[in-house]
This record gives sequence, structure tokens and C-alpha cells, in this order.
Amino acid sequence: MALLQLLLFAMLAACGFSEEQTEGITIAYKVLEVYPQSRRVLITCDAPEASQPITYSLLASRGILVAKKVVHDSVPASFNINITIKSSPDLLTYSCQATSNSGTYGPSSRLQMYQELWAKPVSQLQADFVLRHGDSGPTVELSCLASSGSPPITYRLVGNGGRVLAQQRPLHGKPANFSLPLSQTTGWFQCEAENDVGVDSSARIPLPRAEARAKLVTTLAGELPLTPTCILAGSLVSIAVIASRMLSSTGL
Ligand SMILES: *[C@@H]1O[C@H](CO)[C@@H](O)[C@H](O)[C@H]1NC(C)=O
Ligand SMILES: *[C@@H]1O[C@H](CO)[C@@H](O)[C@H](O)[C@H]1NC(C)=O
Repeated sequence: MALLQLLLFAMLAACGFSEEQTEGITIAYKVLEVYPQSRRVLITCDAPEASQPITYSLLASRGILVAKKVVHDSVPASFNINITIKSSPDLLTYSCQATSNSGTYGPSSRLQMYQELWAKPVSQLQADFVLRHGDSGPTVELSCLASSGSPPITYRLVGNGGRVLAQQRPLHGKPANFSLPLSQTTGWFQCEAENDVGVDSSARIPLPRAEARAKLVTTLAGELPLTPTCILAGSLVSIAVIASRMLSSTGL
């Protein structure tokens, strides 16, 4: 796994600088070195229209000044910085600013570096579900969460035949929550989680067959005692247990 990540970093680094420009100033970066707990990163700022000498400032998120450099020729300013893995990815936002006799340039667009620094494939996707009695009939409520994965994960609810029924992109570390009316689906469903560097699927969860469902609907209309519902809910729970066992035995 560590090897795979290193390979990824190497590939991304080999792709060269990613560059963005606003208001006459560009910001770009390159990962120079990967250490177990930190990354050495080269950030370059370039304001090609500014007259020399140019004073470049590298700003972190919320406008905090990280470093300043005065450049006397037409080369971009380079900042060599160490980033520890402990920092929260969303705090690692940088921008450049430049001042010279010809004026002020920037701030540049904000650079977010988490992808190359923290890229991690999706792994150990868990799908948990409960049966609820909604207004429009019985509903399966499904919660999907991968134990790791960065950049952010898009979760999809996939139904019979691979059809995507819904998708969500929750905040980092939060589960996606789907609600699936039993009347609108047949066969099975599953969760799928994907980010820029990988994809993972939960085990398929079979839905109860039509006759069991018809009984359930009648039950929920209040014409029968609640027992069949409990049996159905019970069988769904046991399916969940089996599904999660299957998951943990195939998990990475
Ligand atoms: C960055 O971190 C590495 C390893 O932690 C260290 O060897 C290197 O000297 C540091 N560089 C700077 C510029 O602080
Ligand atoms: C799903 O539910 C959990 C727990 O209630 C919550 O923390 C999470 O933010 C929800 N996800 C979405 C995408 O709303």
C-alpha cells in the first residue's frame, strides 16, 4: 500500500506543475520529496507583467504571511516549504501576491494541495441499513461510509442492473445517507464509493421478494398485526450481518 502511494506521488509529481492564474499572477506547486510524516513542496509565484524588482509574498489560508522574497530578474519566485501530514488538508491553502513599482498583483487563485499530498484510495466501504415505515410505505434507510479515502468521496446508491439511483458527496469522514422506498426497487442494491484515485463497492444487499413486500405493505396499512414486519426486518438485519462479514473478509 505504501509503495502504491509512493508510486502515485511520483506519477503526480512527474505530471509537472499545476498552475492557476488570476489578476496577473500565477501560483504553481510541485511535490519535491515525500517523507513518512511530511512533504517538501516547491511553490512558485509568477507575475510576468510586473516591473523588477518584485516583492513576492506567499500567503497561507486566512491571509497569514508564510514567506517573502524579492526578485530582481524575470524568473518566478520559488518557496521551498515543509508540510507536516498532521495539518488538516483544508488548512493547506496558499496564494501569492506581488508588489512592484508597476503596482500590486493578486492575490492569486487559492491553491489547495491535498490531492497530491494525501491522495488515498477509498477503502473498507461499510453499508448499514434499517427498515423504516415512511408515509409512502416501507423504506430502507442506508448509510454508507468508507473508513478512509482522500480527496473527498462520492457515494452512489446502485440498484439492480447497476443503475445509479442516487448520489451524494458528504463532508470528509461523514457518511452518505440514502433512502430507498421498497416499492420502487427490486432485486438488490449496494453502495459504491469513488474518489479520484479509487473505487470500492459494498456487498450486494438483496431486497425481499414481491410477496413478502405485499404482506409488509398490508401490515403497514394497519390491517394485520405487526409480526411479519418484524420477521422481515429481522431477515434484513441478518443479511446486513452477513454482508458486513463478507466485507470484512474481503476488506483490504
Ligand atoms: C523538511 O523536512 C525534512 C524531513 O522532515 C528535513 O530533512 C528537511 O531539512 C526539512 N526542510 C526544511 C526546509 O525545513
Ligand atoms: C448522514 O447522517 C449522519 C448521522 O446523522 C450525519 O453525520 C451525516 O452528515 C449525514 N450525511 C449527509 C450527507 O447528510
